[in-house]
Amino acid sequence: MSVAPRLVILDTDPGVDDALALLYLRARLDLKLLAITTVFGNADVETTTRNALWLRARLGLSAPVHPGAAAPLSRPRGRAPVHVHGENGLGDIDLSGRDLPPPDAGAAHDRIVELVRAYPGAVTLVAIGPLSNLALALRAAPDIAGLVAGVTIMGGAFGRGNVTPYAEANIHNDPEAAAEVLAASWPVTLVPLDATMACVLTDTAAHDLARDGGDAGRFALEVTRGYAAAYARHEGLDGCVLHDVAALVSLTAPELFSPRFAPVAVTTEGERAGQTAWAAGDSPTRVLLGVDGPRLAEHFGQAIASAD
Ligand code: RIB
Ligand code: CA
Repeated sequence: MSVAPRLVILDTDPGVDDALALLYLRARLDLKLLAITTVFGNADVETTTRNALWLRARLGLSAPVHPGAAAPLSRPRGRAPVHVHGENGLGDIDLSGRDLPPPDAGAAHDRIVELVRAYPGAVTLVAIGPLSNLALALRAAPDIAGLVAGVTIMGGAFGRGNVTPYAEANIHNDPEAAAEVLAASWPVTLVPLDATMACVLTDTAAHDLARDGGDAGRFALEVTRGYAAAYARHEGLDGCVLHDVAALVSLTAPELFSPRFAPVAVTTEGERAGQTAWAAGDSPTRVLLGVDGPRLAEHFGQAIASAD
């Protein structure tokens, strides 16, 4: 008996690893993409929305794209990491030659509320950018906390951060939003840097994927070259990190991860703003602290190669 696919809303700031996450989503018949909602982060929201529209066309996806927050809830937007994702947010690959339609009607947080209410108990929110849209949705409709199937977030760091020694980018970009999202009474799974930094698509694997994975594999190689060069330059890494892919794989292959259940607090002030830390209290978050990174990267490559 076939199982109905899991309904997913992807809240994203594309972003190179966000693009790989969409590539993975497309390859999975057990995931149905209800909507793409965009947010500032790896670039300004106009750029991340253009990138989501471009990726939808390039990958042949059909989900609506709803633009979201241009800035954090209560602080100025920080600088985009052009040194990692490029000036255009997608590794500065050529995005010309496509007449893109305008974004779909409805602001991101409104559409999140409408879709969660339309499919009670069935929608998983997967957030792979700053959490501003999810916080705005909660503020507008606190009832959605009891209506989602779950919330999976790529974010946080319990060891070293990646934008400061203390904070990971998605949380650091809007600490107030992250604090509200993690404090709400919905089932949250956090996929922090402690796990995602072990999920590396090596250059050899990327070239093998381009050889064996058809158009999808060739695109994965093309879109990651600048991103991999940034990781080589800044981290001495051979390859690039599949942060956002790991969040989606936590839905389809949870056995690759090692969870810890504990409340998580977010620092919102001072030099440690955006830091996630273990807290007291009785509302545990499922934190996927460990992962078999090489197996996750292999799983990603096999999914892309087999789907094209
Ligand atoms: O810290 C990594 C996260 O920040 C990823 O989601 C990446 O795309 C950026 O948004
Ligand atoms: Ca992202």
